[in-house]
Amino acid sequence: MPGLEAKIKDRSAVIGIVGLGYVGLPLAVAFATAGFKVLGVDIRQSNVNSVNRGESYIADVSSDSLSPVVTRKLLEATTDQSRLGSVDVICICVPTPLTSTKDPDLSYVIHESEEISKYLRPGQLVVLESTTYPGTTRQVVLPTLESSGLRCGADFYLAYSPERVDPGSKEHDIRNTPKIVGGIDPQSTHLAQLLYSQVAGTVLPVSCPEVAEMTKVFENVFRSVNIALVNELARLCERMGLSVWEVIEAASTKPFGYMPFVPGPGVGGHCIPLDPYYLANKARELDFHTRFIELAAEINEQMPYHVVTRVLDALSARGKSLNGARIVVLGVTYKKDVADTRESPALKIIQLLREKGAEVSYHDPYVPQIHVSTGDMESVQLDGELLGSMDCVLIAADHSSYDMNEVVARAKLIFDTKGATRGLKRANIVRLGE
Ligand SMILES: NC(=O)c1ccc[n+]([C@@H]2O[C@H](COP(=O)([O-])OP(=O)(O)OC[C@H]3O[C@@H](n4cnc5c(N)ncnc54)[C@H](O)[C@@H]3O)[C@@H](O)[C@H]2O)c1
Repeated sequence: MPGLEAKIKDRSAVIGIVGLGYVGLPLAVAFATAGFKVLGVDIRQSNVNSVNRGESYIADVSSDSLSPVVTRKLLEATTDQSRLGSVDVICICVPTPLTSTKDPDLSYVIHESEEISKYLRPGQLVVLESTTYPGTTRQVVLPTLESSGLRCGADFYLAYSPERVDPGSKEHDIRNTPKIVGGIDPQSTHLAQLLYSQVAGTVLPVSCPEVAEMTKVFENVFRSVNIALVNELARLCERMGLSVWEVIEAASTKPFGYMPFVPGPGVGGHCIPLDPYYLANKARELDFHTRFIELAAEINEQMPYHVVTRVLDALSARGKSLNGARIVVLGVTYKKDVADTRESPALKIIQLLREKGAEVSYHDPYVPQIHVSTGDMESVQLDGELLGSMDCVLIAADHSSYDMNEVVARAKLIFDTKGATRGLKRANIVRLGE
């Protein structure tokens, strides 16, 4: 029987992808498109049914790319974990959220490791892709898998390889984004590198899973810190009567030593708001306080509150009270042109505005309904009449489909948290950072 290395090379290896979400589904389609047989496993029956119908529910995966691999029987989905015993490789792409007290919630990773340990068999390679703190693969996944009686490096192989998807990006995908791999032992690293080389242009091996885990968290913390820095600068520019947008534009002309980040209403998604806490929490176990990282998270978390204060001020300046004001929020996703509202600061802003008595509605072409702690809401129809009837139009996500000229022409007051109206000069525009 050929070994795993030969099976990966001739693409006869069967790849199991556990968790068919924003990370798992694109990966499953990438392997299937490269000719591998892929078994997707998800606990959500609706996801499994959609995949098996060839219908994508993830914006970055078109049904046109999913459907052919399903029809050719290269990709199949199931809720049956026991079928993982029949695959050659298992990539774990389950969520790693925070608890309500902002501690790492590894319950999905632990649960899935326990499931895999029931069906683990000699010769399999397991790769954790979920974002997490350094040490998770070795301290959490490894002992659970070895509770099966099999030994890593001898019977099975284990590595960490962080996902680097850029949701909504037409520019970057797995083919042109280098992949990092770090195995528990040299053979695990080698097999993981060989595996991802089949779908990624560049695969970079590192010395151990901890380096790979830290690399991923560092990349996201880097963004969090820089976003916090520019958010702080935006607030200072407001105080000084300067435009942070103009400052960023001018600074961006420097051809070295500077990288532009833009301010906004806060940070969202499954990475930037969460990962700093994964690292900070782990650091505390070592009596180390990541003050810089936690300060950045704190500054970013304060942005929705700051936006609400600025909206209140802008309304007051026009003789209006926030209590009773009619406000429509444009865009509730955490970034433009995606359908993801997880941790979106727009939801926090809506909640805060409603708590202060504002009559809030929202429009988002990607999100028909939202749930905020003050109740469920449905996206309203966006037209000139609606824009003209509002006391304030708050831009929280600058989706490409929004015609800012039209918004500015119709609205009485616009509060722009994204710099989406930059270049337009009208008295009815108030911008974050100015
Ligand atoms: N979304 C991103 O942009 C992004 C980027 C890089 C890394 N990540 C990381 O990747 C991981 C997954 O994130 P995501 O955005 O894909 O999450 P997601 O919520 O979109 O998808 C996770 C999927 O896993 C399924 N699931 C949960 N437990 C399961 C189990 N025991 N067995 C099978 N399926 C299970 C869920 O039903 C869901 O479909 C997280 O650790 C995240 O931090 C996400």
